[in-house]
Amino acid sequence: MKGVILAGGHGTRLLPLTKVTNKHLLPVYNKPMIYYPLATLIKGGISNIMIVSGKGHAGHFLELLGSGKEFGVTLSYEVQDEAGGIAQALSLAEDFADGDKIAVILGDNLFEDDDAVGKAIHEYKHQICTLPNGKTVGGAKVFLKDVPDAERFGVATIAGRKITNIEEKPKNPESKYAVTGLYLYDSQVFDAIKILKPSGRGELEITDVNNFYVQQGTMTYSVLDGAWTDAGTFPSLLRATMIAAKKEGAI
Ligand code: DAU
Repeated sequence: MKGVILAGGHGTRLLPLTKVTNKHLLPVYNKPMIYYPLATLIKGGISNIMIVSGKGHAGHFLELLGSGKEFGVTLSYEVQDEAGGIAQALSLAEDFADGDKIAVILGDNLFEDDDAVGKAIHEYKHQICTLPNGKTVGGAKVFLKDVPDAERFGVATIAGRKITNIEEKPKNPESKYAVTGLYLYDSQVFDAIKILKPSGRGELEITDVNNFYVQQGTMTYSVLDGAWTDAGTFPSLLRATMIAAKKEGAI
């Protein structure tokens, strides 16, 4: 299974920090932000990883991470010309995925318990779902976290062991379960993206991709025990720094 880190977008919620550099290169305690999602994929046993970034700073990612040798992985790079949304950024990895399952992680997401997440990635490699017509597919998997501010995220409605719907940034969330920025997909994902329409904010939404699998009945999920945060706002960047510092035993 291959991995994709999505590090495009403008990071406008972190201005002026993102005026001359990219959000995913900013420090989170003692490392650049992108080191954390990279470490999460590596814990999942993924060693072939593509980084998708915007035009302005693509060279900086290459300078920072190089071939990936230092991390024991192979890195490749792709440029997203315009910030057309997470699903649009992911569509650029179709040839790279080459029909395999893929793990997709947002470059501003930080998972405290990398070991548990890594184990779940390993397990997903064997996930098989049977469709009503008897055909089998790999399906998808997402990771949920109960949060006090669910309206900032994609929010999952759950019935029993199934997600029945995901809503992007709902005004009145149906649950407290945010869909975190780690997505495991089979090769159907690229066909699902091809039929998407831009949302109200003009982006191809990853939530619409996830709802494709929900409707197909092939979306599974895990609820995270460890801390999780994005780092795209000042409060969440601070939270990310605290989680990272705690993990290093610094506080
Ligand atoms: O962090 C988890 C949340 O991420 C999910 O709960 C939401 O469902 C999902 O839509 C996303 O929400 P945000 O609105 O916070 O996403 P944001 O626009 O901040 O983008 C997150 C990352 O995705 C960003 O750090 C880089 C990547 N990205 C984003 C856009 C819009 C790209 O690579 N290209 C893009 O065009």
